[in-house]
Amino acid sequence: MVAQAGRDIAPAKGTLGVMLVGLGAVSTTFIAGVESVRRGAALPIGSLSQMGTIRLGKRTEKRSPKIKDFVPIADLQDLVFVAWDPIPDDAYGAAKKAGVLDPHHLEPIADFLKAIKPLPAAFDRSYVKRLTGTNVKSGKTKRDLAEQLRQDIRDFRKRSGVDRVVMIWAASTEVFLTAGPAHQSLQAFEKAMEQNDPAIAPSMLYAYAALMENVPFANGAPNLTVDVPALVGLADQRGLPIGGKDFKTGQTMMKTVLAPAFKARMLGLSGWYSTNILGNRDGEVLDDPESFKTKEESKLGVLEYILQPDQYPELYGNVFHKVRINYYPPRGDNKEGWDNIDIFGWMGYPMQIKVDFLCRDSILAAPIVLDLALFFDLAQRAGLSGIQEWLSFYFKSPQTAPGLYPEHDLFIQHIKLKNTLRWLMGEDQITHLGIEYYEKV
Ligand SMILES: NC(=O)c1ccc[n+]([C@@H]2O[C@H](COP(=O)([O-])OP(=O)(O)OC[C@H]3O[C@@H](n4cnc5c(N)ncnc54)[C@H](O)[C@@H]3O)[C@@H](O)[C@H]2O)c1
Repeated sequence: MVAQAGRDIAPAKGTLGVMLVGLGAVSTTFIAGVESVRRGAALPIGSLSQMGTIRLGKRTEKRSPKIKDFVPIADLQDLVFVAWDPIPDDAYGAAKKAGVLDPHHLEPIADFLKAIKPLPAAFDRSYVKRLTGTNVKSGKTKRDLAEQLRQDIRDFRKRSGVDRVVMIWAASTEVFLTAGPAHQSLQAFEKAMEQNDPAIAPSMLYAYAALMENVPFANGAPNLTVDVPALVGLADQRGLPIGGKDFKTGQTMMKTVLAPAFKARMLGLSGWYSTNILGNRDGEVLDDPESFKTKEESKLGVLEYILQPDQYPELYGNVFHKVRINYYPPRGDNKEGWDNIDIFGWMGYPMQIKVDFLCRDSILAAPIVLDLALFFDLAQRAGLSGIQEWLSFYFKSPQTAPGLYPEHDLFIQHIKLKNTLRWLMGEDQITHLGIEYYEKV
């Protein structure tokens, strides 16, 4: 088979600005981790782009470079960080409050973190009810706020001299919104900003500002944000990569591993009860029913798409699926996610599986932020625009082209991601057929 030509990819020359919306637990753990890796004090564990390898060609060729040596992604030394947050704490203060990292990791990089002070946020309490912020922008209209965010991006480029920029929403989960008339076209969207239409959430202002300033945008929370026709259209029109929603970290990652296993073995499922206790600020925000509703929708969709009850009514036609999140301060960022799974096998005999994942939310999310920043920048340099479905691997509720259902199975997502990298670099796709090892051709 002749390998196809790869894409033309502009080199990762110079520095990459990572603009983070939200300077909370996830963002500070991400920044502190990257800085510690740069200083040789930690390993980027959990990051596929840094630790992962990719097999090229036949198994007999024994070619498996590291992904970071195979595709031209930015070097960690070249990342420059900036963030917005309505809470004025610098990255050191915010990291200490978040309580994720121990002093022996934070103290050696305290000066570096203290220098990252959040820009005033486009923040509105009606979208995140449990937060009060003082470091906020003011403007007559939402459009004014979006223009101020655009100015922030331009100022950051100028001040820091970065060559390229990506933006990632790692801010609180906003209240539940569905796409309405204000989101259907750019014209309607801009008019709605001018009229302070409640349909325009702050996260949408950031996404709009990013796209208007030629910055790729990834959404790490379940908010609607860039998943509306007006902004998808804007990204397509301006040739910019976008994606979301909601980092796939603890319980949902496990769900997208286990559910495909049951389906692969044709085992039935009658119920899946998932509950979480967590005590960080994210947990507090999600304690508000309207923010929880946004999260719940994101977590619930997974099983339906993986199990395809329409095709397998006897196995999955009657699944009781429940997801709860309970704010429990003593645990801080160390979440506990319990799953009780009722499955059934041969002749309908019931069985149970219990999963108790004592995870650390931000420890799982930080490497995802890193990979998204690097791959969104790569996508832009490779001329990929619009929704980056090949990065569904990182999201609980992946955005797709209209009319397509999302692929949730973690291993299909993983194969898709790696095949996309092979395709970008002009290497053969790996189909896992392998018949050539057994049949003489
Ligand atoms: N940690 C995980 O495993 C995980 C997984 C999936 C999704 N998420 C999502 O990532 C987001 C961040 O999580 P976290 O644990 O860091 O939460 P956090 O509460 O520690 O940090 C979020 C920060 O965003 C800020 N913020 C709120 N509205 C803002 C706005 N309009 N502009 C700028 N900043 C704003 C808050 O002040 C806060 O400091 C949450 O939405 C969470 O649901 C986290």
